[in-house]
Amino acid sequence: MFAEDRQVLLAPRGEDGHNPCAMSQASDVAKKLLPKWAKRFILLRLRGVHKRYDHLRSHPSRIFLEREILPWIAAHYERVLFVGTAPYTHQFERIFRRSRDHYTTIDPVRGTETWGARHHIVAPLQEIALHRPKGHFDCVVLNGIFGFGIDDTEGQRAAIKILHDTIAPGGLLLVGWNTNLMLDLEDLGLFEPYFSKEVEGLPWPHRTRFPLPETHTYDFYTRRAD
Ligand SMILES: C[S@@+](CC[C@H](N)C(=O)[O-])C[C@H]1O[C@@H](n2cnc3c(N)ncnc32)[C@H](O)[C@@H]1O
Repeated sequence: MFAEDRQVLLAPRGEDGHNPCAMSQASDVAKKLLPKWAKRFILLRLRGVHKRYDHLRSHPSRIFLEREILPWIAAHYERVLFVGTAPYTHQFERIFRRSRDHYTTIDPVRGTETWGARHHIVAPLQEIALHRPKGHFDCVVLNGIFGFGIDDTEGQRAAIKILHDTIAPGGLLLVGWNTNLMLDLEDLGLFEPYFSKEVEGLPWPHRTRFPLPETHTYDFYTRRAD
């Protein structure tokens, strides 16, 4: 049973601010013509979407992601795929400015391109092979996707195989997930055929957890050779 007082930080408070409907009062033409920075300004500042998400940035798991994990990944990996974009993820592109030409985001929801990188794909992760060749990425950040879209164990098993296909041998996979939303896929042996828990040079343990009420967990893996 899952304790109700445990925190799932990524669950939006109240109305979902990253719903593209937040721009619904603008005409379709205006939406197409407006540059991304202007759309972000309208949504975040004029429509107040930032107020719904500002609280996220003060939580230990988010601070760890933004200040430690992502800068370390940006310094060590070139072709990074960040899965799932939202009003609270657009600033991550700055962290990847060194490799901006290769930093890619993906989300199946139309409108998420507003929050995505210069290279944003509107599609589910499961369709990544239609957009990039096999082994294209040397790192995938899969944070808050299991339990927020890819929810059942069979879907997660299939996604892990897809992640193996899209990451080059020796590449890095980061999985961020919530202990109160899903089973521990390591206990089920789902990563074992495709990923190893040994990550060379990783400055943290393979698994990082945070004091309750946070339930967020970060697991790092190396993509096994074929
Ligand atoms: C809780 S948010 C996490 C956002 C971001 N990854 C982060 O770390 O803050 C979940 C996001 O995953 C996206 N998502 C759900 N299913 C997906 C899938 N199959 N492929 C890619 N993105 C997906 C949703 O549209 C949503 O934007």
